[in-house]
Amino acid sequence: MSKSIPVSELTEDAARAELARLTEQLSRANKLYHVEDAPEISDADYDALKRRNAEIEERFPHLKRADSPSEQVGARPGDGFSKVTHGVRMMSLGNAFDDEDVQDFDRSIRKYLGLDSNAPLSFTAEPKIDGLSLSLRYEQGKLVQAATRGDGEVGENVTANALTISDIPQTIENAPDILEVRGEVYMSHDDFEKLNARQADSGDKTFANPRNAAAGSLRQLDSTITRSRPLRFFAYAWGELSEALATSQMGAIERLSAFGFATNPLTRLCESTKQMLAHYRGIEVQRSTLGYDIDGVVYKVNDLSLQARLGFRSTTPRWAIAHKFPAELAWTRLEAIDIQVGRTGALSPVARLHPVTVGGVVVSNATLHNEDYIAGLDAKGGTIRDGKDIRVGDWVQVYRAGDVIPKIADVDLSKRPEGAETYEFPKTCPECQSDAVREEGDAVRRCTGGVICPAQAVEKLKHFVSRKAFDIEGLGAKQIEMFYDDPDLPVRTPVDIFTLQDRDAANLNKLANRKGWGAQSASNLWAAVDEKRQIPFGRLLFALGIRHMGEAASNLIANHYGTWPEFESAVTSAATFEGPEWEDLLGVDGVGEVMARALVSAFAQDAERASIDALVAQLDVQEAKRPDTSGSPVAGKTVVFTGTLEKMTRAEAKARAEALGAKVSGSVSKKTDILVAGPGAGSKAKKAAELGIETLDEDGWLQLIGNT
Ligand code: IVH
Repeated sequence: MSKSIPVSELTEDAARAELARLTEQLSRANKLYHVEDAPEISDADYDALKRRNAEIEERFPHLKRADSPSEQVGARPGDGFSKVTHGVRMMSLGNAFDDEDVQDFDRSIRKYLGLDSNAPLSFTAEPKIDGLSLSLRYEQGKLVQAATRGDGEVGENVTANALTISDIPQTIENAPDILEVRGEVYMSHDDFEKLNARQADSGDKTFANPRNAAAGSLRQLDSTITRSRPLRFFAYAWGELSEALATSQMGAIERLSAFGFATNPLTRLCESTKQMLAHYRGIEVQRSTLGYDIDGVVYKVNDLSLQARLGFRSTTPRWAIAHKFPAELAWTRLEAIDIQVGRTGALSPVARLHPVTVGGVVVSNATLHNEDYIAGLDAKGGTIRDGKDIRVGDWVQVYRAGDVIPKIADVDLSKRPEGAETYEFPKTCPECQSDAVREEGDAVRRCTGGVICPAQAVEKLKHFVSRKAFDIEGLGAKQIEMFYDDPDLPVRTPVDIFTLQDRDAANLNKLANRKGWGAQSASNLWAAVDEKRQIPFGRLLFALGIRHMGEAASNLIANHYGTWPEFESAVTSAATFEGPEWEDLLGVDGVGEVMARALVSAFAQDAERASIDALVAQLDVQEAKRPDTSGSPVAGKTVVFTGTLEKMTRAEAKARAEALGAKVSGSVSKKTDILVAGPGAGSKAKKAAELGIETLDEDGWLQLIGNT
């Protein structure tokens, strides 16, 4: 933002010009936020622009423009939905940014109502949900219309979409004949993460934050898409009513709750600004654990007759205000860039920061993603941050959203120290000095050291003992770090875990005498290790941590080859990437060429192969049970489940199909044989229809597999 001249020093001409500029900036920001769900500036910057505009207008009232941003709520709705004119305008809220603003709010209300400073005046205080507002119209207890806020006067008709949200009752009992319930549509953090993972899997666009995901999901022209998105709703206000709900704000909220709406459990009645501010602090502390985004606390005069007397300014009620949380952004110095080496050798740059508080949490590390990100480039060769690169010593903006790893959002070039040099991403591994190479099309540079790289080795071992791999009780990441460098009992490769007991015995059972250990804990560890000598083939393969070999692929391979020796001899023969064994491996459903190459290469590497062979000699690898699918109508077929299944969970449906020899896939393609579509099936059903793929409903599927 510009370094602005104090409003008191502005000349009239400068003020006029600045109001024009602010109108333009705010209108653009509104459009990006409300219509395109793709904001470019932060809420804090937006608020600052709006405040500046209001301050200038206050000093020069005659310069206030006809299209002044202070007269506008949100932006005009986009095309596509039919328009709804709100019977009662949907208002915005004024903002308070500090305790003083809250005191002013209380004072101005008292002044307006003619109450002196110690007359009782109570307020409700509740979280300000960071979603998008929705107005629901019920007539005779039936939901007849749902509309977004739009510009406050005219919104979009999203009734079909609102009907898919389970928090929104479709009928309510004992309600006034006309009842408009208003509240916020939002998405929980968990659901947001899952949605983005699904979007990424299917190659669709991911969302920047839960608010954008909620907005994008609610404003879908195809309501089957909205149905597949886990939207939620909190009721906190009302529009047109044929009769009053209560005499107080709190009473009205209780009525809404009795009608079956979710209302926010952190809503409190406060008798003083002191209590309001205390509740604000309390909510701020809980903010990161709520599981959904909030951006402040809303205070509302509790007595509805006082609310009526106070009324509205042009776009905001006098009886309510939003006390915003400080943005979860902060500026600090980038002290160093460290490189961490992962299990597959990926070099990940980590920003070491001068510690700074971001949204109540002290942050001293942040991710820098990869070398292009540092250079100001995106994956497609375009620019990010207007192409500004990041250098050690720079003044950088740290951004933290919920529980995710903090990121560096921006850099202030005006504060770049003299002589700061372009960051040179290492071309060798900082841990083992092997070459680090970047393959074409890969954003990541990787260490080529393989087993000789200690960082890769430790990460690989941690993966080896992780929950979905060997899952050895009492041997987690912490113990791995300890044993790796242990002078008496080093664990450098997986086989070392299985020789620990013998080596300790040869070493006079010293482990039992160590600090933090005892005879019991040592013998527990030996038992836990022994218990895992018997291991299913698929689990073993996954545990090896070969690049691209996930859990599912490992099991597919295990099922294909059945026994370890059969598999081992096949991958060995495939080392030339040609011949029948190679073709056979490529033919395994679900195994692509990249995966097959990684697998064959791992087994062809001498050190790695020796380490695997030594490990297997310590184990009893269980044969993969190939399901008896003779007579199964779906053996060998690729099945996709979509929409809601009513008679079984997704996990159950998948397990059953696989037991019958079918392959279950997450996306529809030409290889799909059967699509099982429950209610709410959307784009997948459409695609299957286009490709002419057999589509069954849940009952049809159960019939096919001989089950009712
Ligand atoms: S009351 C007349 N309460 O914030 C006042 N609004 O910045 C009606 N919001 O448009 C709004 N949580 O979308 C109210 N607990 C809450 C809220 C809330 C979120 C949103 C709402 C409103 C915007 C104003």
